[in-house]
Amino acid sequence: MTRDLPAKFEMVDLFAGPGGLDVAARWLGVPALGVEWDQNACETRDEAGLATERGDVRDHAPKEYSGAKILAGGPPCQTYTVAGNGDGRRALNLVVKAAHNMALDEDAEGVLMTVDDRTRLVLEPLRWALEAYRSGEPYEAIVLEQVPAVLPVWQTVSQVLRDIDYSCECGILRTEQFGVPQTRRRAILIARRNGNASLPRPTHRPFRRDVPRENGEAALKRWRTMHEALPDRPEPFTVVSNYGTGGDPKKRGRRTSDQPAFTVTGKVTRNRVKTTDGGADRFSFPEAGALQTFPSDYPWSGRDIAQQIGNAIPPRLAVHVLASALGRTVDEDSLDAAITRPWSDAEAESPLVHTTPTEQDQEQAAS
Ligand SMILES: C[S@@+](CC[C@H](N)C(=O)[O-])C[C@H]1O[C@@H](n2cnc3c(N)ncnc32)[C@H](O)[C@@H]1O
Repeated sequence: MTRDLPAKFEMVDLFAGPGGLDVAARWLGVPALGVEWDQNACETRDEAGLATERGDVRDHAPKEYSGAKILAGGPPCQTYTVAGNGDGRRALNLVVKAAHNMALDEDAEGVLMTVDDRTRLVLEPLRWALEAYRSGEPYEAIVLEQVPAVLPVWQTVSQVLRDIDYSCECGILRTEQFGVPQTRRRAILIARRNGNASLPRPTHRPFRRDVPRENGEAALKRWRTMHEALPDRPEPFTVVSNYGTGGDPKKRGRRTSDQPAFTVTGKVTRNRVKTTDGGADRFSFPEAGALQTFPSDYPWSGRDIAQQIGNAIPPRLAVHVLASALGRTVDEDSLDAAITRPWSDAEAESPLVHTTPTEQDQEQAAS
């Protein structure tokens, strides 16, 4: 089979979806290749001009993409999410044990025998990292993201990577603290070979009621609202969630247009958006994409578009995470400009989002 891969890429993105991480990479000027098997996500990627290896991540290996310096991955989360069947959460101990076995080059398959395929996929990025290391071409930086329930797996992966000379940090980040007009929590892992890994520092305050502020929080910007992200939608409006709150499925959560959106999931179009005159409609795909910080003209294609949108990491958060993995901090003004610029203009050769080395990297370079 002939493959039409770009001449040069610096990042391989496993489970690349419609491109949350790859949009961030494009804005940062990092050429990326995504590995993805879903026809619909691939259609969106093609329309967006994102390079794609169509296929199963398990059928590929780092040696096919030598020269890539960054490994990124957002494995599927269905079995780990609160909304999912919970198989992944129940199998966490086995997944963690298998990760340790992989590090020792011992049998992981036997440990995972009773674990379903989708749950196992969370260990694919570790397989890639170990194979690249053992072949003498370790990735310089690794970025992984998943739902919060996967944090124990990322902690184990961090231990394994530290043993092969990576600096690693992992933790839970809140999207609204990075200027995303939406509350969503993600378990993020950042690993670096030639520098100290650290999670990006929040740029915005958390959206929390009844929680005392932390030191330094007052200096941060206020979280972004749905109205700021959707200036063309008449306000005020109220979003009535398709999920119940406080354990009562009938008690639907509500957010007003001067607040961030609920987590954008694959069911986002089931939320009702109510206006003060009694009207109600649904978010359009471009609007749901904008709440995820995709440009408003992002060319969503194929079927199951709401699911594609809900699957993605918000590109705005991904910019901060990728920049941290490269030892850099993000210039917020240029990030604001990149998000509001038409995606069709984002082909620019030079990065749209400007970055500078982190204080730590500057000190390291000076010493
Ligand atoms: C959580 S989404 C990742 C979203 C992506 N990080 C983004 O920001 O757009 C997981 C993706 O993995 C894909 N996927 C699941 N299993 C796969 C496999 N074995 N090989 C390739 N892709 C797979 C799914 O189709 C889905 O698009």
